[in-house]
Amino acid sequence: MKINLSAKLALMGLALSFAAFPASRGFSHGDTAPQAVDTEGLDSLGEGDEWLTVNPYRIEEGEEPNAQQTRAIEVGTVGYSQNCARCHGLEGVSGGMAPDLRYLDADEWGDEWYLDRIRNGVTQNGGVKMPPFADILNQEAAWAIRTYLETRPQD
Ligand code: HEC
Repeated sequence: MKINLSAKLALMGLALSFAAFPASRGFSHGDTAPQAVDTEGLDSLGEGDEWLTVNPYRIEEGEEPNAQQTRAIEVGTVGYSQNCARCHGLEGVSGGMAPDLRYLDADEWGDEWYLDRIRNGVTQNGGVKMPPFADILNQEAAWAIRTYLETRPQD
């Protein structure tokens, strides 16, 4: 993409104004309402309510990510920061408000737990601790977020 000079200057101005008024603009990252995630570039995993039960994008240890896996990490990065970071912490590092999702085992058991939580959310004593995302995210987005978390360093 070509960006001409005036567009560049406008972008710089924008960046500067955000830098100048971070608090008043409420731009604390991850502070946004739940929203759908753009999954363009990811092949469809199938429509409907029947989701895969194992993360299809999982990168096994020592493997280089293929194109779908690379795209999944990108989609998951955005999806996580838009929908999960405000409770689970920026870049997957929990501040203590909700569990640190980097430590959820990258295996079938972890997938089952993850799927249940992300689709149904968590309620306790009538209170919503975590909202359900079944109507907001498709399975490509959900597994992309899981893949992103699995690639975050654990320390
Ligand atoms: C409003 C805050 C909030 C948001 C937003 C939120 N969660 Fe949670 N989540 C929680 C809390 C609190 C828990 C712990 C619930 C409990 O007590 O078991 C939790 C638990 C989980 C668990 C189970 C973790 C474990 O170790 O037991 C998973 C998986 C999870 N969330 C995934 C996500 C994902 C993925 C997103 C974004 C799509 C997300 N959550 C968005 C608050 C949130």
